[in-house]
Amino acid sequence: MPGGTFRPAVGQTRAVSTDAEKTGAAGADAEKRLAAQAAAEFVADGMTVGLGTGSTVAHLLPALAGRGLAIRCVATSVGTQRAAAALGLAVEPFGTLDRLDIAIDGADQIAPDGWLVKGGGGAHTREKIVAAAADRFIVIADSSKPVPALRPPVPVELLGFGLPATLRELGQVTVRDVPASPDGGVIADYHGPVDDPAALAAWLAATPGVVGHGLFEPALVSVVLIGRGDTVERRDLAAL
Ligand code: 5RP
Repeated sequence: MPGGTFRPAVGQTRAVSTDAEKTGAAGADAEKRLAAQAAAEFVADGMTVGLGTGSTVAHLLPALAGRGLAIRCVATSVGTQRAAAALGLAVEPFGTLDRLDIAIDGADQIAPDGWLVKGGGGAHTREKIVAAAADRFIVIADSSKPVPALRPPVPVELLGFGLPATLRELGQVTVRDVPASPDGGVIADYHGPVDDPAALAAWLAATPGVVGHGLFEPALVSVVLIGRGDTVERRDLAAL
């Protein structure tokens, strides 16, 4: 997966006129739809495609299905798998493919240097596997998602075995009142400082009992598409 320098606002289609905060929930939803529709254009006939999870990806699925392409998809959650299949997209288990041409997913926070926080829907472990397996990872978001600096919480997925010991080791973590992940993991949130995402990511990854965490490094990301009012801002992180 190629890395790259974060170059803000490359390819911005029109001047920024409004954002999700100004337009409210309906505006944010419209921005998600615009970003998702723009991302669907990155997909070509014959591609293998990783499908993310969340309300932004919910707009991607009909946009992709509407293109009528012959593509093979893998889904990062049961919800996405069902929604995609209901729209006629060919979804298969991620057990027969060892790479993907492209993956498209939402994000909870997008930092100026390209770090992401993901996992608001608790699907971050599968989402990172799918993103890492893809030649290009496209992030889609409304204009509330770019942030000046990452902030807590950072979602984590924990092994049930020894959970109290893992929680004690992590310290500032709360277990979410949600069902286990499809892989049996406990979904929780880390509330400590996120000032140094690389150091935090390394520490979380090295802590026994942590299955996955929601910090996605910039090297994973190819393109960020942000809906802003009636425009889509494109940020390229890696040469395509
Ligand atoms: C799910 C995710 C989502 O991509 C993230 O929470 C953004 O969700 P939405 O598109 O609903 O704003 O990481 O685990």
